[in-house]
Amino acid sequence: MNKFRLDNKIALVTGGSKGIGFGIATALAEAGADLVLVARDKKTLDEAREMLSATGRRVWIHSFDMSGSEKISDLFAEIANDTGGVDILVNNAGGTRRGPAETLTAEDWQFVINLNMTATFTLCQAFARERIKNGKSGKIINIASLMSETVREDNAPYAASKGGIRQLTKALAVDWAKHAINVNAIGPGFIQTDLTKPLWKDDSFNKWVTWKTPWARWGKPEDLGNAAVYLAAPASDFVTGHILYVDGGLLSTFGPSSW
Ligand SMILES: NC(=O)c1ccc[n+]([C@@H]2O[C@H](COP(=O)([O-])OP(=O)(O)OC[C@H]3O[C@@H](n4cnc5c(N)ncnc54)[C@H](OP(=O)(O)O)[C@@H]3O)[C@@H](O)[C@H]2O)c1
Repeated sequence: MNKFRLDNKIALVTGGSKGIGFGIATALAEAGADLVLVARDKKTLDEAREMLSATGRRVWIHSFDMSGSEKISDLFAEIANDTGGVDILVNNAGGTRRGPAETLTAEDWQFVINLNMTATFTLCQAFARERIKNGKSGKIINIASLMSETVREDNAPYAASKGGIRQLTKALAVDWAKHAINVNAIGPGFIQTDLTKPLWKDDSFNKWVTWKTPWARWGKPEDLGNAAVYLAAPASDFVTGHILYVDGGLLSTFGPSSW
């Protein structure tokens, strides 16, 4: 199982302080990677570092808002300098502004595109430039969504941004294969986190998710962590440009034949 180990690797996880990002960070640490976590809230970052340090791994934290792209390259340069180089990049920080499309503002649109897409591209670029300059391989994992393939109402900027992540993942995979940089994405199904709390606390929505999902449950952050270890490890060296949906089978079905 050595091909699934990440010893002596350093992984940068944006939004790694809670939810899916924390689930991914935990699994990467258990597989042997040291971690750099980026999120806004310092207290949550401190708590995450304390929990992850229990695995025996080194953990750096950076309090930083990923929704403004100007300083992202500087942040990456600082992280690369502090750690000696990042081997694995997980672009997980994301968010949304919901509402009927005709009511959204230009600022709503720009916020979601900046955070979910532009920040991802900018960080991928900073990572790849550093790897190429130093002649080193690398692994990028972007976080897509079921909305990379299909949509729900009142979430147009999010759907556009996650559809964009699917195509960006493929484009970067093709550009950077010659530099041995793998670029893949994970598409989570419905996962219980703070982001989706209003949904899983809503009785009728909760019933709809368990009805619609062949595995009849919500996903957990650790479900994503296991997939991330595979995409970060040598085991997946020939896998690139792939979107791995971790959704309990949801995307494959119209739903059960009765309700
Ligand atoms: N949960 C789901 O069912 C689901 C399904 C499909 C896709 N996803 C995607 O998975 C990713 C994580 O979602 P989640 O459910 O784990 O959300 P979450 O529980 O709300 O966690 C989001 C993480 O990102 C950080 N973050 C948010 N905005 C940020 C910003 N502007 N700058 C830096 N860090 C920021 C948060 O920390 P701070 O708030 O302290 O910054 C936190 O660490 C997102 O890309 C989301 O679109 C989630």
